[in-house]
Amino acid sequence: MDSILVTGNGPLNGQIPIAGAKNACLTLMPATLLSEEPLTLTNAPRLSDIKTMTALLQSLGAEVSSLQDGQVLAMSSHDLTSHTADYEIVRKMRASNLVLGPLLARFGEAVVSLPGGCAIGARPMDLHVEGLEALGAEIELEDGYLHAKAPGGLKGAVHEMRFASVGATENIVMAATLAKGTTVLKNAAREPEIVDLVECLRKMGAQISGEGTSTIEIQGVDRLHGATHQVVTDRIELGTYMLAPAICGGEVELLGGRMRLVESFAEKLDAAGISVTETTEGLKVARKNGRVRAVDVVTEPFPGFPTDLQAQMMALMCTAEGTSVLEERIFENRFMHAPELVRMGANIEVHGGTATVTGVEQLKGAPVMATDLRASVSLILAGLAAEGETTVSRVYHLDRGYEHVVRKLEGVGAKIERIKGQ
Ligand code: EPZ
Repeated sequence: MDSILVTGNGPLNGQIPIAGAKNACLTLMPATLLSEEPLTLTNAPRLSDIKTMTALLQSLGAEVSSLQDGQVLAMSSHDLTSHTADYEIVRKMRASNLVLGPLLARFGEAVVSLPGGCAIGARPMDLHVEGLEALGAEIELEDGYLHAKAPGGLKGAVHEMRFASVGATENIVMAATLAKGTTVLKNAAREPEIVDLVECLRKMGAQISGEGTSTIEIQGVDRLHGATHQVVTDRIELGTYMLAPAICGGEVELLGGRMRLVESFAEKLDAAGISVTETTEGLKVARKNGRVRAVDVVTEPFPGFPTDLQAQMMALMCTAEGTSVLEERIFENRFMHAPELVRMGANIEVHGGTATVTGVEQLKGAPVMATDLRASVSLILAGLAAEGETTVSRVYHLDRGYEHVVRKLEGVGAKIERIKGQ
């Protein structure tokens, strides 16, 4: 397995281009199942998760061509040969469950493996099932697979979700586009990736309103046509790289960044003493002066502080002046980066869903292990600011969500290289 070697090397300066959003692309790709006409995505990120979704769609019989070095995905699901998403693929990537709603809506049947747990939590699918059953689907759990049927087609309904689940919102909205009648989805998730999905579905002929608010209304239509859609900028990659100049000093411009994607995150950085200004090309980030100040963080559904930036923010707080309390409210086990940061000299105490970080003057480089996608990059951020060398192992986690990390950070002066595994 490959590892990444980072050497603390002082302030960073320059520009970093931000790619298309992984979590938008992973819900836009299954949308091709809703129409027999071609759906083309541009600004797609080059990530292993996208390759996994490609393999899943192809296993169903869809055509997916990756063009222009992976930045364009030309897809067509005119003739599907299967409606089953196998455990082998779903266990690797939970987002595979996003084929459930589209398959049900277009074909009236779907067999999707439960994803099983992952490092950050149990991650059940009860909210997906409840929403699709509200639309008239009959769903049984057998041998670890959800067997879903809608023989007479789906019917619009008013449904309020118990929690604003991102994936459940995406599955229910996609299914409702072809249901008979009107669906009103209450307590819907408001993430920008959902807004991006709705904008794409609307280009395909869907009748939807309210995206980005807690209530989304969908008028079912008989069929959807093809479209071409540009994937929205990745706000989590954006937030991750905003932390590079914050933790190292210097000034970096994140190309393609927009303030509306990271509002609550930028407010927290401002309170910590980091300036974020919107330019015509993106977001410019610099440490204002002196040491970063400790701030408290609570993760919440959008527009609150994103859980996917909690690990990275913790790395910054490890070197801040004062004590920071980070509360993780979305996932039950998302502090596995903490013990690795402690190996680098951080002072962190974890009790249940709360981590208390007391900043230290200087972190020390050390061999550390990535445990999940976002934890991997928080260790790289810590390594950029640490004294000496940090080796991050198991970087296959990193390849799931960050393209060309070494090249992007080298481009602003970081001392970082990828070491080929045995
Ligand atoms: C999406 O996951 C993202 N993944 C996650 O990003 C992100 O952390 C998460 O939303 C929260 O923002 C993709 O978009 C592909 P949820 P999702 O359904 O849809 C519980 C990353 O690093 N829940 O909003 O799975 C669940 O266990 C990944 O890019 C139920 O209880 O998230 C979790 O505790 C990690 N029942 C919470 O809700 C359900 O039926 C949030 O889950 C569904 C979810």
